[in-house]
Parts: sequence; C-alpha cells; structure tokens
Amino acid sequence: MTEQENELRAGAGSGRGDDANAPRIRLRDRDAELRSVEAAVERLCLGFAAGGTEIGDLLTFSGRPGIGKTSLLHEVRRIAKLREKATVLFARGGERQFKEPYHVLRQLLQHVLGDLEPDVFRQVMGTWEEVVGPAMGLKQPKAGARRLDPQGVRDGLDYVLAQLAPRRAPMVMIVDDLHWADGESLSWLTKFAIRSSELPVLLVFAFREDENDWPAETQEFRRSVLELKGRKHELNRLTLSSVTDMIRAELGDKAEDAFCYEFWNVVNGNPFEAIALLDQVRDQELEPVEENSRQLHELAVDATGMTLKSWLDRLGASTLRFAWACAMLGTDIRVDLATRISTQSTEGARESIKRLRKQRVLTQSPNGNLEFVHPLIASSIYNTMPDATRLGMHGIAAAEIENAGLGLLAASRHLVETHSGEGDDRIVRKLRRAAIEHQLIGAPEAAQRCLKRALNEPPADEIKTEVLYELGCSALLTNPVATVNQLKLALFSPEDLPLRPELRVDATFRLSEVLAHAGELGQAAVVCQEEAEVTVDPAGRQRLQAASFMWHAFRKSEEDGPGRSARLGVMCRSLRGREAADRAVLAMRAWDLTLRGASSTEALALADEVLDSGRLPKGLGWTDTTWGFELPSMLCLTYIYNDRIAQAERLAADAIIQFEIAGWSGAHRGFAYFLMGLARFRRGLLAEAEDFLRRAYRISQRMGDKLPLAWDAIGVLVDTLIARGRVDEAWTMANDFGFHPPYHPTAMVLPDAASLYGKLLVAKDRYAGAAAALTEAGAQLEVRGWRNTVWAPWAGHLAIAIARDEPERARDYAQRAVRDARDFGTASAIGSALRLQARIEDARAAVELLEDAVTYLGQSPAGYEHAVALVDLGAALRRVGRLDDAQEYLYQGIELAQHCSAEGLVDRARRELANYGLRPNRLGLRDFRETIETLSSAEWEVAKRAVQGVPAQRIAEELGVPVGLVNRRLAAVYRKAGSGPDGLASALGLPQQQRDAGWPEDLDD
Ligand SMILES: Nc1ncnc2c1ncn2[C@@H]1O[C@H](COP(=O)(O)OP(=O)(O)O)[C@@H](O)[C@H]1O
Ligand SMILES: [Mg+2]
Repeated sequence: MTEQENELRAGAGSGRGDDANAPRIRLRDRDAELRSVEAAVERLCLGFAAGGTEIGDLLTFSGRPGIGKTSLLHEVRRIAKLREKATVLFARGGERQFKEPYHVLRQLLQHVLGDLEPDVFRQVMGTWEEVVGPAMGLKQPKAGARRLDPQGVRDGLDYVLAQLAPRRAPMVMIVDDLHWADGESLSWLTKFAIRSSELPVLLVFAFREDENDWPAETQEFRRSVLELKGRKHELNRLTLSSVTDMIRAELGDKAEDAFCYEFWNVVNGNPFEAIALLDQVRDQELEPVEENSRQLHELAVDATGMTLKSWLDRLGASTLRFAWACAMLGTDIRVDLATRISTQSTEGARESIKRLRKQRVLTQSPNGNLEFVHPLIASSIYNTMPDATRLGMHGIAAAEIENAGLGLLAASRHLVETHSGEGDDRIVRKLRRAAIEHQLIGAPEAAQRCLKRALNEPPADEIKTEVLYELGCSALLTNPVATVNQLKLALFSPEDLPLRPELRVDATFRLSEVLAHAGELGQAAVVCQEEAEVTVDPAGRQRLQAASFMWHAFRKSEEDGPGRSARLGVMCRSLRGREAADRAVLAMRAWDLTLRGASSTEALALADEVLDSGRLPKGLGWTDTTWGFELPSMLCLTYIYNDRIAQAERLAADAIIQFEIAGWSGAHRGFAYFLMGLARFRRGLLAEAEDFLRRAYRISQRMGDKLPLAWDAIGVLVDTLIARGRVDEAWTMANDFGFHPPYHPTAMVLPDAASLYGKLLVAKDRYAGAAAALTEAGAQLEVRGWRNTVWAPWAGHLAIAIARDEPERARDYAQRAVRDARDFGTASAIGSALRLQARIEDARAAVELLEDAVTYLGQSPAGYEHAVALVDLGAALRRVGRLDDAQEYLYQGIELAQHCSAEGLVDRARRELANYGLRPNRLGLRDFRETIETLSSAEWEVAKRAVQGVPAQRIAEELGVPVGLVNRRLAAVYRKAGSGPDGLASALGLPQQQRDAGWPEDLDD
C-alpha cells in the first residue's frame, strides 16, 4: 500500500488541518447517515438564508472504536464547507489530553475568535474579555488578575457564542472523540448542546458510548451527553457484502465467498479491524480461499492485539521510542518535540517517521505535524510503555515543552504524571506556579491536580502547610467542603510545622468565609475570634476581630447582640486611621446601626466615610479577597435601608459588572443580583426587582439546595409578588420553597424572614397565624435589639392582624412602630409606619395619618410605598365624603402604581373609583407643562430643534451626538408628548417656528 492510500484510509488531518481538499474514501453502508447530514446542513443554511436565527440542531454519531465515526465527521466537514458562507469549526478530544483544561474548546474557538477584526472582537467579547480571553488562550491573564470561576467562563462562553454565532452563521461545530474531551470543555458543551437550538448552529458530536471509554472524571458528562436530544445515529457494523467488496478490491475477485464470510465474522463488520486484517492477509500472503479461513482468527489477534514484543519486532527499539514520545504528546504532534522527548537526532527522527508511516502507525498532516492513524494505535503504543520509561519520559516531556516556550500550563499535564517521592523543590515550585496559572484561566481542578502532586513530591517541611493552604484556596469558588478540610489541615498541622503568621490570618479568614457561605456562621465567627486571640500582629488581629463581628451579625440569632453592638461601637471609636481595615469596621457599624434602627443620619455618615468619592475604596472592592464581598454588601444594604437607593444601585451595578469581569458566577454574582433586586424593590420598580431576584434565585439553585441566598431571594420575591398583587402566586412560591418557620437553621435571612412571612399571612387574610408569627418575630428581634421597621416591619403588620380582636394592643403596636420609625428617621420608614397605622384607625384619623404618610413618602425613593399611601388616602377620603380629593389621590396613586408595575394596586384604586361612581380613569388632557416635566433635558434639547423643523442629522451635528441617539430621543419625546412630528409643537406648548427656546423657565414669560 502506498503512503498516499494510507493517508486516505486514515481520513487524515489534525484537529486544525484544512481537509476540504483531502482525498475521500468511499464510505460504505452510511447512506442514511450521510443523508441526515446533508439534510441538517441544508436546513441550517436555508433557515438562515430565510432570516431564521433559532434554527440550531444537534447530530450525534456514536459507536465502537474503528466503526467509522471520524470518517463520517470528515464527510460532515466536507459537506459543510461546500456551503459558501458556512463557518466550520472542528475539534477533537485526545486520550492523553483530557486533563488539559479547555483543550477542546480552544481548538474549536481560538481561531475563529482570534481572526475577528478588533472592533468586532470587542463586541463579541462584551464584558467577558478578561474571562473568556485567558481561558481560550487568546490572551494572558491581566497582571494582578484573580482566580476565575469556571462557571464564569461558561457564562462568558454563552455570551460570546450568542454574539459570534449570528455573525458567522450558518455555523457548524464539530467535535470528534467527545468521550476524551476535557472536563472544562465538556461541562460547557453539554449545556450548550441543550440550548444550541436557539442559535444558527449545527452541533455535531462523535463519541464512544461505552462507559469504559470515558475517563472516571467525566462520567457525569457521559450521562448528560447520552440524554441530549437531537438526531442520534448509532453506527452499525458494515454488511457482509460491503466487507466482501473491500476484500475483493484489495485481493481480487479470487477471494472466495466462504473466506469473505469468515473474515466478516472475525472483524465483526468493523472497518478499522477489516483494514488491519487485510494488511495481515496480504503481508502473510494468505490465499483468500475457504481452507484458509480458519487462520483468520489468529491473524486478527496479531493485527489488533499489539504487545510490547510485537511492536518491538515491527518497529525496532529506537523507532518505538519515537512512537512513545508521540503517544505521550497525544494529537497534533510537533515533530521537534517528539524528537527531543525521544532523545533522537534529527536524522534518527526522520528515519523513525518514515518507518512509522510505512507501518501505518503515523500520518503527517498538511501542517507538518504528526498524527496517529487511529487512536487505537496510539493507545496501544502508549500502553506498552514500561512504567519507569513512562514516568521518566513525562518528565522529559514537561521540560521540553517548557523549553519550547509553550508554558507551564502545557507542561504541567506531564509534570503531574512524573515520578514522585524525590522531594525535588524545583518540581514543587513549578507545580505551585502551574496551579496559579490554572486558576487564572478558570481551571481549579487542574490546579488541584498540580498541588496534590506537589504534596506527594513531597515539598520541604517548611512549605508543606503553605501548599495545603493553596490547595484549600484553589477550591474556594467550586468546592466548599474540600476547602474547609484542606484549610483546617493547613491551620491545624503539627506544632513544629506551623503556617507562616501572615498566611494564618488569611487562611483563617478564608476558612471562616467558606463556613459562613455554607451557613455555619456561628462556627465562622468562633474560628476568627479564637485566632484573633493568638494573633500578635495588630492589623491581622483587627481583621479577624472585625470578621468575627461580621459573621455574628449575619447569624440568625446570637446570644449577646446588644453587647456585640456596644463592643463594635467601642472599636469604631478607637479607630485612628482610615486604612481599608478601619473602613471595614465603619461599614460594619453603619450596618449595625441600621439594623438597630438607631439614627439613620449617623449610619449614613459612617457609610459615607467608608466610600472614596462615592466609590468603594481600595482594598474593599467587590472582588477584593482580603474582606470578601460581605463587606461592600453591608454597605450597599445600609444605603438601601437608609433611603439612599441610587447610591446602593451604583454599588450593586458595580458588583454585577465586576463579578462578571472576574468570572465569579456563583454565589457572588447571585448575591449582587439579589442586592440589585432588593434595591429595585425598595424603589418600587417591581417588575425589574422580580427579574433580578429570580436570577439570584436561579444561581443559588445551581450552587446548592436552599442556601442562605435562596432564602433571601425568595423572601423578597414573595414580597415583590404581594406588592404586584399576585398574592396567590406568592403563597404558592413560599410554600413550594418551604419559606416558613423555622426558616434557615443558622443564617439570618435578609430582610427579616419572620416579618415577611407574617406579612404574607396577612395578605392571605390568615390573621391568627400572622399574629402568632409576628409576635414571635418581635420577641426575637427585641432580644437582639434590632428595631428597624423597614427591615422588620413586624409591629405594623401585627397591628393589622389583631386589630379586630384586640384593638387596644393593635394600637400599641402600630404606635410603637411609628415611634421606632421616627427614631430611625428616614422618610420611607416614617411614611410606611404611618400608613400601616392608618389601616387600623377610623376614617377620619386615617385621613390625617395618611396625609402625613404621603408627605413623608413623597420625599423618599420608596415609590411603591408612596403609591399605596396615595391609594389608601384616596380611599379614606372617599369614606369621609371628600370625593374630589379622593379622586385626585386615586388618580395619582394609579399613575404611580402603573409606574411601579403594581397591577394589584392599580386594580384596587380603579375599583375604589368605579364603586363610588367616579371615573376609573382621568379624562382631562395633560397640561403641556406636565409633559415637559417628564422630558429629560437631553430630550428637551432634541425636541426644541425638531419643532423648528431641524432634521435629525443636523440635530445630531449640532449636539455632537450620533444620529441614532437623536432618533431614540425623538422617539421618547413623541411617546411622552403623545404626538408625532406634526402635533409636537402644540403638545409641548411651543410655537411652530420658534427659533431659540431655552429650558422650561423660558416658557413662563
Ligand atoms: N463506512 C466505511 N466504509 C469503509 N471504510 C470505513 C468506513 N468507515 C470507516 N472506515 C475506515 O475504517 C477506519 C476507522 O475509521 P474511523 O472513522 O477512524 O473510526 P472511528 O472514528 O469510529 O474509530 C478508517 O481507516 C476508515 O477509513
Ligand atoms: Mg475516531
């Protein structure tokens, strides 16, 4: 057989080789599969040409090794590439490479992303450049970058693909040998495959189904792959007549039927085995006649069951060594590397390659790299390596790969396979560095493999605990249990091998963090407290003390709340500087004061001292690891509850963006969504709140069952649904989740769970249950000294629940709530408390209270509370017969409620109007002054010019903004004015030809 045929049979080509022009083999018995491919490609291209975008599809080919999967994929590539506009991406897993993070995805995406024009690249990457870029090997992690959360990389990839696919559509993404894909790639691919139908992408996978062919590490993904829905093809063995054809094509028509039949049986219709056996038959010059069929069995064993001896016989020692070096490297093998790893001369290597090609072991791809003819051969060669040789050669491979400038990431796969027990410091250093690099590309598991191997080396005694500490930190974002164990090991190692003091503080803080995130807040606080007591360095001690305060504050209950608060106050007053650690204490105190319902002014003053011109200071940023995200969260919560919602929203928006950029997609991003949801809820933007909170909840679900974050999100979500008038839905949601006493066992739910639950019961008219829950809530909070009526509005709602049966007690509670709210002092707290008190008073008293409430709430950002107060006031006025006033407040209430998406409140107000013969909607036209008030100054600038008949393009030039923006602003003007270009002047009260109008005050004259 010639070398060209050899190539041709192998369906040659590396992962990247462009094989559209490669010679084709005739695929037998694959007509149905090929039709399916043609049809899928056709559907994709037609669908896209017809303007479709949600037209993705999934094709899978599975079957035993050698059955013809790769050959079929080559056909897929060829067919797809015939389509002019199609983008065809290809990658394959490698048996030796399944531990290389993102090995498969990098093959798939690196080129297509790297080839984008710079501005398109930026659009496609969005905010994910620093996440997806390093993971895909497109760029180095930025200096000072932090560890990436693999979930962040996956989220980033989702975004990038959603951007890329339409730009490069129709797109065909092909992955061969998926069973050997690395875990990082698989975990994204399996999820992407489920949603690929939403994009103009045809995904094509080929893999072995047998679980023995999947590495233990990726078994869970095998199940996901098998469960995927799509067009699945399990490849059948070739038919007798096809194999007979193959035999006769090779050996001539003299091959007898009986021989062919036996041949077919022996190879079981497997084309790879058929070709191997044919080689043997020809080499042995076996006559293809019936009498010889019995020898086929033996030959087949020789053909496929290759032992060390048979390879040695076939290749000779030095060529086999070269083959081993190739096997070590996996797929897409660089000749120079293989040469050096096999320690051969260039000349020797050339000889080896020649021999290996002749023996149909290797082929050479168009890019000059080598490739095994079939992975079965690669496996067979690798597995014949004696243990000592293998370990030694991996060591050489690691060194050579590093020398070749391919970096530690690439070398580390070999380093972890080398011989341990030597105690080589250099290896330990390299492995630790490789671990860091892995974390920077979002591959903590690979980092852990490096660190575990480093521990086995073993490292010198004095750094063993450091490695343990690093191992603990490496799982911080993904595996809390492992983190806890490893950090404990590092911290509580034998006395003669203590962790360095600087690291001790950090390790303790990390440990407490993980414990806290798992809900073990009491433990977290104790760990910090105990370590603080033995920490000499003042800064370290302060950090741990503060951390212990922080964890106590997040506990569901604590023994000595007021005591802790007092101690925190003392600590706060004793601060001298304004370092990050000092500001951290201020932030904690601000939050503490807020929860206690102490003076809002004081809390805000402290919070403002934490910030640096409105921004988080250095060292206390969202992704700063010294303090963790709890600290800025406390600050954000402080602003939310002290009516400075805009400031809180700025912080929360920063959090979302920074966690995205850092790729921290787990609890961090979830909590940022929660904060934003809570802020929007307090502001009364209920639809947006609902959306953010649902996202937070989804993320928390992904992280684990009923984590504290889930409680937070569900609580506020229930509150939001009540506000929107969807009480039954709120009730179902709370019940499905189990949002009722005793709540989360250890962590405090934000805001107060018991108050929320009582409020829900009141909304469901279950007054007795509400009374019990709220009384209990009040008692608990009293012990703790927490009296914030917005955070925990138990008293006001309790008053409503018991008003009928115990009017006196109800009045006490309602008044107490108002008193507490006044002590706290924010407009929204006072207004809301007054509004609740009005609910239990007679109409005349209610009117007075509500008039006050409306005034207060009108000065606060609490839009929804304001809307409720307006409607309540309207209703109360109606009851005392002041119909005109009632109507006006109800109209205002409706308008605001609509703005808040509080549909239930809108209905209530309309019913109120309709039931008493009033119009449920305003009739009168709005005055143009009201319209102008709703225009932003930018919109006003555009409107003035439009009225003068200036075309959009000129307006854009005059204002120095893009014309697209002018058009968008104009659209807003038309909508708000309720008029198109023609009537705009009169809708705005402007003369048609006015030349030089100023901002509204000019209108007064
Ligand atoms: N349908 C077919 N008809 C003829 N030869 C085939 C067919 N499918 C595969 N082959 C040959 O069998 C060998 C193994 O095929 P390959 O596609 O590499 O299998 P797999 O990827 O399933 O392990 C290759 O040499 C290929 O040329
Ligand atoms: Mg294959």
